[in-house]
Amino acid sequence: MTQVLAIDQGTTSSRAILFGADMAPGASAQQEFTQHYPASGWVEHDADEIWDSVVATCRAALEKGGVAASDVAAIGITNQRETVVLWDRETGKPVHRAIVWQDRRTAEMCARLKAAGHEAMVQEKTGLLLDPYFSGTKLAWLLENVDGARAMAEAGRLAFGTVDSWLIWKMTGGAAHVTDATNAARTLLYNIREGRWDAEICDLLNIPMGVLPAVKDCAADFGVTDPAILGAAIPILGVAGDQQAATVGQACFQPGMLKSTYGTGCFALLNTGDTLVRSQNRMLGTIAYQFDGKPTYALEGSIFIAGAVVQWLRDGLKIIGSAAETGPMAEAADPGQRLYLVPAFTGLGAPYWDPDCRGAIHGLVRNSGPAEFARAALESVGYQTRDLWEAMTADWPGAGDGTVRVDGGMSASDWTMQFLADILGAPVDRPKVLETTALGAAWIAGMRAGVYPDADGFAATWAVDQTFTPRMDDAERSSRYAGWQDAVARTLSRR
Ligand code: G3P
Repeated sequence: MTQVLAIDQGTTSSRAILFGADMAPGASAQQEFTQHYPASGWVEHDADEIWDSVVATCRAALEKGGVAASDVAAIGITNQRETVVLWDRETGKPVHRAIVWQDRRTAEMCARLKAAGHEAMVQEKTGLLLDPYFSGTKLAWLLENVDGARAMAEAGRLAFGTVDSWLIWKMTGGAAHVTDATNAARTLLYNIREGRWDAEICDLLNIPMGVLPAVKDCAADFGVTDPAILGAAIPILGVAGDQQAATVGQACFQPGMLKSTYGTGCFALLNTGDTLVRSQNRMLGTIAYQFDGKPTYALEGSIFIAGAVVQWLRDGLKIIGSAAETGPMAEAADPGQRLYLVPAFTGLGAPYWDPDCRGAIHGLVRNSGPAEFARAALESVGYQTRDLWEAMTADWPGAGDGTVRVDGGMSASDWTMQFLADILGAPVDRPKVLETTALGAAWIAGMRAGVYPDADGFAATWAVDQTFTPRMDDAERSSRYAGWQDAVARTLSRR
């Protein structure tokens, strides 16, 4: 049994990837699923459709790889975080569509809680801020708004989970209602200092604690799959939220190491070791990973729109046919123009946390065209990362050697990664294996199963493919970044 099956359940698609004895990615399968937008700012997924897509991709990866389920030593799960599923323990049916992390419907609830002075307490205990991004207020919304949900929850019939929890419950045929510490850390309900669900916060949000799953380490016995699903009983031995799995996959095991993942959004995590840094700059404190009951903390900066800005160029503006066109367009853009695109399509995340502002473009002139838009879109990703970088380095003096390890779809763009190095004034390392999220989940599960090495052995296998070194001079870097800050200031809803 030398194979490990990683399930990467993301925001727009589910993937299953087999990793071999050498930890190299092998056969894989991917399936997109429906995005529901029932109202402005609302985003929902059908949890049953997610489950079907996970089963289908696992079966397809096994078939493609010619691997029998009985040859799989372990399953590792990594997932979109914060998204809320609430289901009936008796029927196994969700009581509502899952509310996705991007959903802003609880903005007013968060504003009310903030105005009542609760944010300091919440930040102290959870590391998070009162923003609709996190699960807690979404769960509160479901209990308030779904007919009969509160009574059922109080009677112990309902189970809440982030997507990992839902998948494990389904895979084990309802035997395990569990999650891991990294996913729990994103709910707003979990005290990351004390490692337990927090009664005071649950009370504040009127959430009966009986709906919450048991919390385990990232490497733990989460349950065994019902053999009817994949053809054998496979132990689930690893779980981590996708950004935490990428941190592990990038082998950011030392305090001061930083990774930045460019998917739909961009999520930068800085390992702060045993220290839970209380951010003075509206970064998040979170759990990077937890092994042997010991949490390793991180500072996190979460940007909601990164790769999605390129999708907007393609599907909204229709000025590109594919993402690969943006690099050459940016290269050809008029160097005399300074366009700033602030992609606040769903408000802004860190460090602004403004759910109400919307996107803007500044600096248009008469000959601004598709090339300048493409460049401004790619640059927005670099500028937003610089915002996080500024906040993190101010919060944590131990911010390492200043190198950033990148991954995610957009890290394939040389132009974007060079601009990132330029605007940060720091080297950017792109690793050989770009499947870092799935690799992180696979390594955790494989290490627990005893088929993969320990953290040091794993870190020794991490290898850089390309380093981007800064070429921009200091004066230009400062003046461009000042222009960005001005553009953001004019975009925010509250000044
Ligand atoms: O916090 C949200 C994040 O986990 C989503 O990641 O890669 O599914 O867009 P992704």
